[in-house]
Amino acid sequence: MTKPKANLTDSFGRSITYLRLSITDRCNLRCFYCMPQADFNWMEPTEILRFEEIVQLTRVLASLGVKKVRFTGGEPLVRRDVVKLVRDVSSLPGVEETCLTTNGVLLKKMAQELFDAGLRHLNISLDTLRPERFKEVTGRDHFQDVWEGIEKGLDLGFSPVKLNFVMMRGKNDDEIVDFARLTRQYPMDVRFIEFMPIGKHSKWGRNYFFSSDEAVKQITAELGPLNPVKPEAGSGPAELYTLSDGMGRIGFISPLSHRFCSKCNRLRVTADGRLRLCLFSDLEINIRDMLRQGVTDTELAQFFSDIILKKPGRYLSHKKEVPTCERQMSSIGG
Ligand code: GTP
Ligand code: 5AD
Ligand code: SF4
Repeated sequence: MTKPKANLTDSFGRSITYLRLSITDRCNLRCFYCMPQADFNWMEPTEILRFEEIVQLTRVLASLGVKKVRFTGGEPLVRRDVVKLVRDVSSLPGVEETCLTTNGVLLKKMAQELFDAGLRHLNISLDTLRPERFKEVTGRDHFQDVWEGIEKGLDLGFSPVKLNFVMMRGKNDDEIVDFARLTRQYPMDVRFIEFMPIGKHSKWGRNYFFSSDEAVKQITAELGPLNPVKPEAGSGPAELYTLSDGMGRIGFISPLSHRFCSKCNRLRVTADGRLRLCLFSDLEINIRDMLRQGVTDTELAQFFSDIILKKPGRYLSHKKEVPTCERQMSSIGG
């Protein structure tokens, strides 16, 4: 057994400082690449971690050096009383940043209370600026709600505000330049994400794949050179650039073309309390049972310090084939 350290370091020397908490598998959209089209096997309410369980596991991880906590889903804003959870987690000692990845549908309504609860970092998924196409991709007619949510987030002073655009050939690759152009007008990060084959029912196919390199070519041809931004310590997988006249930044998240496992600093917990050490690895550890059986903080700290040594080193980089996993994206949260 290793002695718990205030700094959670895996066997490859990576410091784990970032926790991604999926707090529900439910969603108010039906993005074709994320959700199954039918046969929804929603988690039962009793299967989902209760707030006090989420708070305990986060408190323990924060005592081991986790500084950043991101709430994901499904769609995290559909979880009842999510604002209270944000407030409780934001006030835990050691938690320096609380962040949300949302589809933005409920943002206009909830942005003020989330801000008041201590949230500052907003990542919003948006794959098109065209209302009709939005309906096709997400199955719902909510483009306007999302756009107004983004504007509200900016008005209130959330910072950073990041847009996540999943690039899909033949679906939205003709909007890459339009999204990049948004950074001239708004102080946001627009991030282009390579479509990943996640989940056994994934709609991913090589024909849909659009690489970051192709996106860079399109953007520079239309809008001029991209100036690299020096990465900050502990920054995520996005490589960042600015246009010469940009207010915001342009990012590329390239899990398939430029594998970034060596910088990985994160752990994931699913809404039903399974710890995932890597997005692509189906190794899951049931921490819900431990929490429900009354594990103490000390025991939990010891458990995390031991289990972290099982975090895969280079899940992506040593595999030639395209990686995938069983669990669908809507119950991992990205
Ligand atoms: P920041 O903390 O703002 O940098 O956000 P983030 O990129 O960590 O989180 P977000 O939820 O906005 O995710 C953006 C995209 O990056 C999604 O498509 C995620 O699936 C992907 N992503 C995030 N972390 C990882 C990772 O560790 N591995 C891989 N392959 N993809 C990741
Ligand atoms: N590949 C890449 N990104 C994805 N997302 C959802 N599914 C995929 C996928 N298969 C993105 C969403 C959201 C974030 C959590 O992950 O658009 O912004
Ligand atoms: Fe919902 Fe996000 Fe999945 Fe779209 S990508 S269905 S918004 S969880």
